[in-house]
Amino acid sequence: MTQKTKSWKNLINVSDLEVGDVTPVTFGTREVAVFDAEDGIFVSLSRCTHGAANLCDGYFDGTYIECPLHQGLFDVRTGEAKAAPARVPLKMINCRVIDKVVQIYI
Ligand code: FES
Repeated sequence: MTQKTKSWKNLINVSDLEVGDVTPVTFGTREVAVFDAEDGIFVSLSRCTHGAANLCDGYFDGTYIECPLHQGLFDVRTGEAKAAPARVPLKMINCRVIDKVVQIYI
């Protein structure tokens, strides 16, 4: 069995992000959500952990993303579920910005 090594990969140019909002990005077979938050850039898998709705269609206030289906709420800085029916945290992906490019560690 081969084990792939994680490394930093380019995801999206900062200039292509929705300012102060969430941007959907397809990376390989994964759909991720890139949040231009008040506290910086954060990346998570885009599917809600409750019912798999696409969080990129939800309401983002700069810190919390509200699921468009049942209004579960997540803190995009940590992934923590903040309001029912969401209970399982969002899968966050380590990210950084280098030379105006958002990179993820994957
Ligand atoms: S699918 Fe997101 S809260 Fe139900």
